[in-house]
Amino acid sequence: MAKNLPKVTPTFLILFTILSFSTFSATGKNHSFSRTLSPAKLGLKREKLSHLHFYFHDAVGGRNPTAVRVAEAPMTNTSSTSFGGVLVMDDPLTEQPELSSKLVGRAQGIYASASQSEVGLLMALNFAFMEGKYNGSTLSVLGRNTILSAVRELPIVGGSGLFRFARGYAHARTYTFDEKAQNAIVEYNVYVFHY
Ligand SMILES: *[C@@H]1O[C@H](CO)[C@@H](O)[C@H](O)[C@H]1NC(C)=O
Ligand SMILES: *[C@@H]1O[C@H](CO)[C@@H](O)[C@H](O)[C@H]1NC(C)=O
Ligand SMILES: *[C@@H]1O[C@H](CO)[C@@H](O)[C@H](O)[C@H]1NC(C)=O
Repeated sequence: MAKNLPKVTPTFLILFTILSFSTFSATGKNHSFSRTLSPAKLGLKREKLSHLHFYFHDAVGGRNPTAVRVAEAPMTNTSSTSFGGVLVMDDPLTEQPELSSKLVGRAQGIYASASQSEVGLLMALNFAFMEGKYNGSTLSVLGRNTILSAVRELPIVGGSGLFRFARGYAHARTYTFDEKAQNAIVEYNVYVFHY
């Protein structure tokens, strides 16, 4: 018995260490500022996929502009791609291509000319919805918009309200562009996963 003890003890100790380590890993470490939570605690049920379709009205010119230039580089005016120009927008989103059709929300944010070789915008904005059950909910967009391409894809990086935990993408297609007035109507198809 006494002879066997030294042989058993190291084996037992190793086993004990492995077992307690895996138990600890499974429950995870508790921190004073974070903890793991079951999705049900936040009322999250099944994730769903939604498709939203609307028209975006961007008016840089005219009497009531909805996008205003707030910054530029000395070269912006002479650059063929307006490189360095930064605009802030508060653009209406409507159900139909006509501006007079039902307002579903507004696109609020910034776009900047971020390419020297083509017209390529960095877009950082929120779609703030104002219609029906989505009133008060938002989707956040951060992406690249080469406005002369037929279809541009912009990532949806998050959302709020009914769009909490949202992720997905938007396809933008220019519907009309009035070069003289610098006004554009863009059709948006947005696909998002959310709860
Ligand atoms: C972490 O904290 C929770 C709640 O305070 C407790 O139930 C759980 O046992 C703790 N887990 C560990 C590994 O300490
Ligand atoms: C660029 O053009 C705009 C409008 O014509 C003008 O207001 C602005 O001062 C110009 N900026 C520079 C840096 O030349
Ligand atoms: C959206 O919500 C705001 C604030 O709660 C409210 O004033 C407004 O009437 C609502 N709009 C629609 C179209 O329901």
